[in-house]
Amino acid sequence: MSDVNRNEPKLKEIFADCFQIGAAVNPRTIQSQEELLAYHFNSITAENEMKFVSLQPEEGKFTFEDADAIVDFAKRHGMQVRGHTLVWHNQTTDWLFQNNNGGLVDKETLYARIKEHIHTVVGRYKEHIYAWDVVNEVIADEGQQLLRESKWTQVAGIDFIAKAFELAHEADPNALLFYNDYNESNPLKREKIYRLVQLLQDQGAPIHGIGLQAHWNLYDPSLDDIRTAIEKYASLGLQLQLTELDVSMFAFDDKRTDLKEPPAQLIELQAQRYEQMFKLLKEYRDVISSVTFWGAADDYTWLDDFPVRGRKNWPFLFDSKHQPKPAFHRVVEVAGS
Ligand code: GLA
Repeated sequence: MSDVNRNEPKLKEIFADCFQIGAAVNPRTIQSQEELLAYHFNSITAENEMKFVSLQPEEGKFTFEDADAIVDFAKRHGMQVRGHTLVWHNQTTDWLFQNNNGGLVDKETLYARIKEHIHTVVGRYKEHIYAWDVVNEVIADEGQQLLRESKWTQVAGIDFIAKAFELAHEADPNALLFYNDYNESNPLKREKIYRLVQLLQDQGAPIHGIGLQAHWNLYDPSLDDIRTAIEKYASLGLQLQLTELDVSMFAFDDKRTDLKEPPAQLIELQAQRYEQMFKLLKEYRDVISSVTFWGAADDYTWLDDFPVRGRKNWPFLFDSKHQPKPAFHRVVEVAGS
């Protein structure tokens, strides 16, 4: 797969004046996609390997092997690394929240444990990780409630969020610290993300940016909603990054499983969608510092089998053989326009 002879323009070069171009990777793709990653991308994020459950599965037992391999890969190829993620309700081990009797820990213990975790992890990668998603996905998708309920809120209310930013800042005062979430362009959630970040700023929490996950599809969110979200977040005076971009071929409620290959019509729709999106992103290059895809090429995406079992998806600019798709060529035109 790595004997492709490339002569297309490099994404990282054609967008050098706008933003970094990143990809999420894992221990398999840094091998299977090495050539593609090295050619087009100047930033990477570990897909799972820096999450709590991966780094500290048992109290005090840190497992850094996979995360180290990813950081080494970045060093070898002169890439930046975004750290993902320190505080989340998912992929976090139960022991963090449990006391000796199997009940919920008190706030003091939880803070002591997360302090140990953040200091160890952020400290270890100080030289190589320039930005961290400190807190991931705490906003409730529906209703008027600001935060989703989780063990974090059960133990510490809203305070754990500011606390996490303080701890990360303590551990590496140079790291850029992000709040990261999905459905970030949805008007209801946008207002709530805005409120949370404003609250953090009012408290003096060290927050430098907002991560727009950008798990989008051919039809949603609308360009207007994306634009409004960017403007609203940027009005807080923070930098923005797209942290997990992909463009699913299927609408959110589409459950079809009949496609084995993407039809030409959908490939063209996706090309148009990417063109429009990158035009918009380029307009906001002063506030957007990085655009990271949640993968690199269609041979591997978390959207295969999710949320619909038995269905493949093709969300990227490169096909399963790592060749540029029509969407790639359209994005190149945008860069040059
Ligand atoms: C969320 C998380 C990511 C990843 C994706 C699914 O967006 O932030 O780390 O787990 O879900 O792959």
